[in-house]
Amino acid sequence: MGKILKILNGKELALKLNLELKDKISSFIKTSGINPKLAAVLVGDDPASKLYVNIKRKTCSEIGIGSILVDLDKNITKSKLLDEIEKLNKDKSVHGILLQLPLPRDLQPYTSEFIEQIDPIKDVDGLHPINRGKLFDYNEDFVPCTPKGIITLLEHYNIEIQGKNVVIINRSNLVGKPLIFMLLKRNATVTVCHSYTKNLDVYTKKADILIVAVGKSKFITKEKVKEGVIIIDVGISRENGKLSGDVDFEGVFDKCSWITPNPGGIGPMTVSFLLQNTFNAYKKQL
Ligand SMILES: NC(=O)c1ccc[n+]([C@@H]2O[C@H](COP(=O)([O-])OP(=O)(O)OC[C@H]3O[C@@H](n4cnc5c(N)ncnc54)[C@H](OP(=O)(O)O)[C@@H]3O)[C@@H](O)[C@H]2O)c1
Repeated sequence: MGKILKILNGKELALKLNLELKDKISSFIKTSGINPKLAAVLVGDDPASKLYVNIKRKTCSEIGIGSILVDLDKNITKSKLLDEIEKLNKDKSVHGILLQLPLPRDLQPYTSEFIEQIDPIKDVDGLHPINRGKLFDYNEDFVPCTPKGIITLLEHYNIEIQGKNVVIINRSNLVGKPLIFMLLKRNATVTVCHSYTKNLDVYTKKADILIVAVGKSKFITKEKVKEGVIIIDVGISRENGKLSGDVDFEGVFDKCSWITPNPGGIGPMTVSFLLQNTFNAYKKQL
């Protein structure tokens, strides 16, 4: 199989989805006269968080979604941050609220309280307990953007999920947990691994589809996967100033039937679904 045929090109698909969304947004604005708007709440001065927020806002503006940045000091108190979120809940011109995570260390223990403060209809990250609960019932109205991006990418390439052994290495609220329900809904057999999993290789070698979101460069090498595996590389780490995924791409390439590049795979799909979720929130509120 030619190299290009094996690549799950998230960058290309995200671009296509964004262009389609741009058209939809412009026709909605024509009829409603109301512009969709996302509020990005950034607390503190973590450079990576700033970079992610900038990328998200830039992509919003490219497709016709307005955005505001609520830039807050890292020493903000818990009650002040809850108030800031409440202000955005009440602001009718704001349709989506994104709280950039992780929060500064002192606020981290209250992360769930801040998320619960967001009006579920504006919860474009799909992290509010009401939206999580809906996913338990296989309702995907507001699901986290990365899992939605992963499933959409697989479906776009007509990769069958039903009946497959899918192994996820990650159990976070943002990636692993929502994926469990989205994959079960599509009739996969799902195995979830994490840092306490013993003999990880036993599981990875059984995977028809392997989804890795660990954040350690070259975590998955060719010895750990079986012939014909489909690999989704979600993790991001920085090595010598260069961004890298979790998978030894060159090493595993000949063994895979499909693989995402990283960068250029799940990252752009994640941003694309933030835009889709914002558009859905806007439609629900119109
Ligand atoms: N491309 C994108 O758009 C995108 C979006 C979201 C996240 N990411 C990236 O994906 C990665 C995960 O993100 P996250 O927010 O889910 O982070 P996280 O909460 O730190 O999750 C990391 C997961 O990896 C597991 N893990 C760590 N070391 C392991 C080991 N040696 N063996 C097996 N499992 C191990 C952890 O297990 P425990 O639960 O036991 O700690 C945890 O479940 C990060 O690199 C992040 O930057 C990328």
